[in-house]
Amino acid sequence: MAYMIDIHCHILYGVDDGAELLDESIKMAENAVAGGTKTLVVTPHCNVPKSFQNYVDEEFLKRFEELEELIANENIPLKLLRGQEIYCNDRTLSLLKKRKLLTINDTDYVLLEFDFDENSENIFRRLEGIVSAGYIPIIAHPERYRFLQEDYSCIDRLKDLGCIIQLNKGSVFGVFGQKAQMFAHMILNDELADVVASDAHSPYMRTPYLREVHEYISVHFSIDYADLLLAENPQKIIDGEVIL
Ligand SMILES: [Fe+2]
Repeated sequence: MAYMIDIHCHILYGVDDGAELLDESIKMAENAVAGGTKTLVVTPHCNVPKSFQNYVDEEFLKRFEELEELIANENIPLKLLRGQEIYCNDRTLSLLKKRKLLTINDTDYVLLEFDFDENSENIFRRLEGIVSAGYIPIIAHPERYRFLQEDYSCIDRLKDLGCIIQLNKGSVFGVFGQKAQMFAHMILNDELADVVASDAHSPYMRTPYLREVHEYISVHFSIDYADLLLAENPQKIIDGEVIL
């Protein structure tokens, strides 16, 4: 099995609803490695109104470096890269331009989440602006959003716009309910998925362990598809290369 790259993980402790304490970050790193991950993009929530702001400043960046150092000190063979899961609203593009938000590993790729009930008009208007400015949106867990569940053709609109489709490991197994599971499987079946990531929040539930989802996709689809979604495409993303 190819080594995997996880582009969506809330491993940075004390900044969002992911790992609370350092000990949990360490356990998540160990769990990621046990599950076959060699590189992990640290993606805390940010720009969430009345919630996790995490705008980039020196202090915030220091937290990444500290975690990197702590994981290296524990001799855990996991490479960490910087990123954020950016809440997409009307302020997002200007904040990106001001460099108050982080792209994935300093590439043009931006991991975006939306309000679960956001309407498609707002979503596509904002995405069009972000794409026009030269960024490549990675849509975090589209299978969980109402706009897509109400109109599956939105997945084609996202793809036509050049967006990258990132499914959650948990959705494939039904962790987020039947609807999200059904849409995750439709997207997999239709070969419209680009990436599967953990979106891990803890070492106990919603973990960063990716081996099981790689195995599942290998058995139900093909090893090549599993490798594409969990290793090859994530590699291109962190390298800033185009996914065709
Ligand atoms: Fe997330």
